[in-house]
Amino acid sequence: MTTNAPPLSPKERYRLTVTGGETDRPPIWIMRQAGRYLPEYRELRSQHTFLDFCLRPEISAKATLMPIELVGIDILIIFNDILTPLRNLGLDLDFPKGGPVIANPIRDMERVKSLPKVIFGDEPVAESIRLVSRHAPEYPVLGFCGAPFTLAVYAVEGFVKGDKEEILRLVREEPETLDLLLEKLTTVATDYLVLQADAGGAHGVQVFESWGGMLLEDEAYERFAAKWQREVISQFRKRCPETPVHLYVRGSRNKLAAMDATGADVLSVDWNTPLTEARRATKRTLQGNLSPEVLLDPNLVPGAFEEMIRGFDWQQGWIANLGHGITPKASVEAARRFVECVRALGKEGG
Ligand code: CP3
Repeated sequence: MTTNAPPLSPKERYRLTVTGGETDRPPIWIMRQAGRYLPEYRELRSQHTFLDFCLRPEISAKATLMPIELVGIDILIIFNDILTPLRNLGLDLDFPKGGPVIANPIRDMERVKSLPKVIFGDEPVAESIRLVSRHAPEYPVLGFCGAPFTLAVYAVEGFVKGDKEEILRLVREEPETLDLLLEKLTTVATDYLVLQADAGGAHGVQVFESWGGMLLEDEAYERFAAKWQREVISQFRKRCPETPVHLYVRGSRNKLAAMDATGADVLSVDWNTPLTEARRATKRTLQGNLSPEVLLDPNLVPGAFEEMIRGFDWQQGWIANLGHGITPKASVEAARRFVECVRALGKEGG
């Protein structure tokens, strides 16, 4: 692309990147980009509960839009949480300080069998996406869901901390209970994505597998994580064939072949997976993977950025991002520097 061409709109840059076209530079967004590292988010958060953010479209939209001006990202992700749709399954979800808590976790077959069938209406998340698109029509907006196994971890454990004893007990001792739970969560996750794409008009969706890659290996990863990721992605693809799907896996390094086999359009890898290694494993668009630690200090960014992309040809399809969510202690200045590094790629060589 010549240097005289007008810059692409963020929507066009995203579309071309995902479909294998040529772009002026890679697009960038940051996982958890609307979060506690932003003073403006903390101020808004001090006036509302976290569930207000997930359930009230005007508050969700306000938070979603913040990182455009404050950080300069190209892609928006709707402000919500992977756990919100668990409420529709009758789970009593709250977000006290220290992370999400479910007061009535699912621990046995009887409970799994008695879970209600979820039928989504026009949920608040769809209205949030519509509001964001109205305010920022040039920007692509991503919807998202948790991968079935990651949702199961929270639904079974009931809270974030601890050694994940309950879910691992199901893996070892009651695999059929877990199979049935995962089947039900797969329907919830898929329907939630379809709602965001169809009713909301999301321009892409991301599936977050935050735990499968960390807790499971080999046959267990295949049976309880990869199989259901493929199911969500293929069912979604049938119902929303035009909407690209991103798959994020924490613990991606030895899961690249399984990620490729899901058919996701964009594979989002963690910070322990060199991009050159990921590129050898797949031809798909990659996403990632600066370590969130780097954003604690602006001075670390240029060196770490250079190291991340050494030997990696971004023009084969890359969306710049972190390898996991930005932390509350991150520096806003560091996030901006990350954006600058990506923008500078567009100036090299025309
Ligand atoms: O990226 C964005 O800006 C969009 C919003 C978003 C949130 N959560 C907001 C949030 C997204 C995409 C998520 C996904 C999510 N939520 C995941 C998958 C990604 C990952 O981190 O692996 C998971 C596992 C959850 C569950 C969850 N929600 C946890 C573990 C926590 C507590 C940890 C923490 O950072 O406090 C949350 C709460 C949460 N979700 C916050 C935000 C901004 C912090 C809540 C607050 O403001 O008090």
